[in-house]
Amino acid sequence: MFGVSVIIDIKPILLYTQSINSANWYAVSERGEKMSGLFITLEGTDGAGKTTQIKLLEKYLKNKGYEVICTREPGGTDISEKIRKLIIDPENIEMTPLTEALLYCAARAQLVKQLIIPALKNGSIVICDRFVDSSIVYQGIARGMGADMIAELNKYATGGLVPDITFFLRLDSSAGINRKKKQAKLDRIEQEKESFHRRVFAGYIELCKKEPERIKAIDASRSIDDIHNIIISHTEETIKKLSL
Ligand SMILES: Nc1ncnc2c1ncn2[C@@H]1O[C@H](COP(=O)(O)OP(=O)(O)O)[C@@H](O)[C@H]1O
Ligand SMILES: [Mg+2]
Repeated sequence: MFGVSVIIDIKPILLYTQSINSANWYAVSERGEKMSGLFITLEGTDGAGKTTQIKLLEKYLKNKGYEVICTREPGGTDISEKIRKLIIDPENIEMTPLTEALLYCAARAQLVKQLIIPALKNGSIVICDRFVDSSIVYQGIARGMGADMIAELNKYATGGLVPDITFFLRLDSSAGINRKKKQAKLDRIEQEKESFHRRVFAGYIELCKKEPERIKAIDASRSIDDIHNIIISHTEETIKKLSL
């Protein structure tokens, strides 16, 4: 019996949820504590340029004197990186969509609790390569498990943590895969059929329409420098708005 949930919204957009009838059953519930950091996530299909842009943004913000922590999903902690190996191993062809969705949640729960929340409380800027939006799009929409169900599941995994800014690097899935093909061999998710990657792209577009305030879409076919400049100007704006 979980009873009624109480949700309180505090900056930076962290939803604290408490069950009235049971004691603190949420995985990462951090009731009542304010966080002074900034949480930025990057999203987009494989090859859109997330890793490239994270490295540039990290360098820029560090040069300005900010404490910056970069991490990635799935992964970012020892336990989450072990879960990552399971998820992306091309040999794990038998993995069911539900197993995959739960493994992403497990890796994320560990990352949020062990690294992201402590860093945000500490006033750091956390930049994460993919977050809940990826699960909503890949498992919820592209694998057809349902965006709402995956979003709900992830509220348990993250305690309701939502990024302050999400940059969606909008690149047609086939262009992204072509960029990736020039790299090392593709992992289990990257090896999915073209139709899967098309659904991922369409899923992201849907999400952008739903949350235009949080998600800033950028044309990722532009040059690396152009994209970097758009990212830093939006980040600076948000830093000013939040008085960090
Ligand atoms: N704006 C861009 N234009 C052309 N190539 C790019 C651009 N951004 C990244 N790349 C290249 O595309 C490949 C994939 O980029 P990467 O940052 O690894 O993407 P992701 O992390 O989104 O999968 C890399 O070889 C990278 O150098
Ligand atoms: Mg990458």
